[in-house]
Amino acid sequence: MLRTHHCNQLRPTDIDKTITLSGWVNNRRDHGGIIFVDLRDANGITQIVLDPSINPEAHAAAEHVRAEWVLQATGKVRARGEGLDNPKLETGEIEVAIEKLEILNQAQTPPFELNVENDIREDLRLEYRYLDLRRSKMQRNLRLRHDMVKAIRDYFDEAGFMDIETPIMVKGTPEGSREYLVPSRLHRGEFYVLPQSPQQLKQLLMCGGVDKYFQIARCFRDEDLRGDRQPEFTQFEIEMAFCQQEDVMKVIEDCFHALTEKCAPNKEWKSYLEDGRFKQITWQTALEKYGSDKPDLRFKLEFVDMTAEAKTCGFGVFESVDSVRVMRVPGGSKLSRKDIDELTDLARKHGAGGLAWVRVGEDSGPVMKNSKPEFITALVEKTDAKDGDLIFFGAGTFLQSVEPLGQVRLAVADKFGLKDPNHFAYAWVIDFPMFEQKEDGSMQAAHHPFTRPNQEDLEMLESDPMKVRSYAYDIVLNGVELGGGSIRIHEPELQAKMFEVLGLSKEETEMKFGHILKAFKYGTPPHGGCAMGLDRVVMLFADEPNIREVMAFPKNQSAQDLMLGAPSAMPEKELEEQNIQVIEED
Ligand code: AMO
Ligand code: AMP
Repeated sequence: MLRTHHCNQLRPTDIDKTITLSGWVNNRRDHGGIIFVDLRDANGITQIVLDPSINPEAHAAAEHVRAEWVLQATGKVRARGEGLDNPKLETGEIEVAIEKLEILNQAQTPPFELNVENDIREDLRLEYRYLDLRRSKMQRNLRLRHDMVKAIRDYFDEAGFMDIETPIMVKGTPEGSREYLVPSRLHRGEFYVLPQSPQQLKQLLMCGGVDKYFQIARCFRDEDLRGDRQPEFTQFEIEMAFCQQEDVMKVIEDCFHALTEKCAPNKEWKSYLEDGRFKQITWQTALEKYGSDKPDLRFKLEFVDMTAEAKTCGFGVFESVDSVRVMRVPGGSKLSRKDIDELTDLARKHGAGGLAWVRVGEDSGPVMKNSKPEFITALVEKTDAKDGDLIFFGAGTFLQSVEPLGQVRLAVADKFGLKDPNHFAYAWVIDFPMFEQKEDGSMQAAHHPFTRPNQEDLEMLESDPMKVRSYAYDIVLNGVELGGGSIRIHEPELQAKMFEVLGLSKEETEMKFGHILKAFKYGTPPHGGCAMGLDRVVMLFADEPNIREVMAFPKNQSAQDLMLGAPSAMPEKELEEQNIQVIEED
């Protein structure tokens, strides 16, 4: 190695040793003839000193060095002068008096400062990701991700799972998003598809006699991006033969126990357990109480159902709707009109007709003015409200009454600082509906079409499909969906029926899913599994607000790689070889 020690290694016990360090110039200070350089590597920082009375040549060389130059420096470790210790550095009690300095490489002035924790424009960070990655925060995140992947692998290995790779060039994988296509040169006009997940392949492995499958798998989805979504992301995911829902959930839960103890030891998470297990909430209850299928359980702000009372409350808006739900905000009268207006906009953005409110103990606002006193009495009683509280209303269809209020709940928690950053509130959401309505009114599988409908609800599959629940489960943490899975259909007849209910013709089913229906005819075991978004899990463990912070080379919000310049145009000749013609926009 071009060093004897790394830059976070030397301590007072090393004083008087002659050592060699290599690293980048984090900063350089000239103090009246003596030059101090903070030398940085992946591990940390050590101060080196260039004193002309020790070696004039080394000192002269150091006069020219600038930020991010790469140095190799040999010298003697010594204690810092009286009162000059730097408690911010782990090496802060010592420094190295340099006898020999080698400049290994020079650097242009970087486009942003690497040695300060300030806000840097993200497009710059992404264009110069290799510089951004040198920053200590990014080094920490890379290290954490490595440690977590190792803990995950170790856990599944010990639990008897076998790591099996599945192909990246596959056939369509219908899981809700648009797919990335790969043109085939050999088969003109035909395409491979990049997998949204290895879903069908892991099920086919179950047909293949594998008992417990595990993979850290790359997935690709051409969807609208947000802070917790990337077009290319990683899942850690499993599939098990001969299992029931409870078995899969237990395995995943134990994985998160191990992962939290190893990689987030300072988080408070055990107080959220119920009998030592993650809390399980049905989808219906999650929506009724929190207005979300991924509720943040670090704080209460639970909804109360006022539908029955509202039917005769005197306030027209509430009398005519299917559902009226309320959320009491303790001490919420502190919220200003401006706050309430902002929250109303938020509710509207998520589909509410408005956001009615009552300040408990005050005679203001349209609800107070328009509704009967009995209604207000019932409201106060049912929500256990005190003067100074504020109550928000959601009204409409069931989903319209809870989902916007769920968004308001999160925003209120932010305003009142209720989201404790040191807490991890894990939970399962279970009993998802089998189907959901798309914007155009058609039905699609809520999880995916291989998910098994609840045994008790099977008879409603054709008559009342929107009522059918499924053996699907999501694991959530602090309001983020970490992962999801299901028990699968393993009978060819039921699977074919599912495609039929989803509106696929026999021909379409054969063309898209013939392979899996064929496989199911040869004795497929009952099976189920689960997949977690690795990037999201690391994001939460790293206390980062978006997943780009925990990926080495992420795409930006427009799905571009600003460092590589991808996607990019292709030379005509290559397109021809691939049988592709680009049609210019007019
Ligand atoms: P699902 O589609 O719910 O399930 O995905 C599982 C988890 O993957 C993560 N995830 C993403 N992370 C980053 N960027 C994205 N664009 C993105 N999309 C999804 C989420 C999500 O919870 N095959 C099924 C699993 C199964 O049934 O076993 C599946 O992929 O954390
Ligand atoms: P309006 O009748 O439109 O003047 O509304 C009276 C109050 O009820 C306002 O505070 C609205 O924000 C609120 N409101 C209207 N529709 C709804 C709804 N669907 N859910 C909750 N509040 C509503």
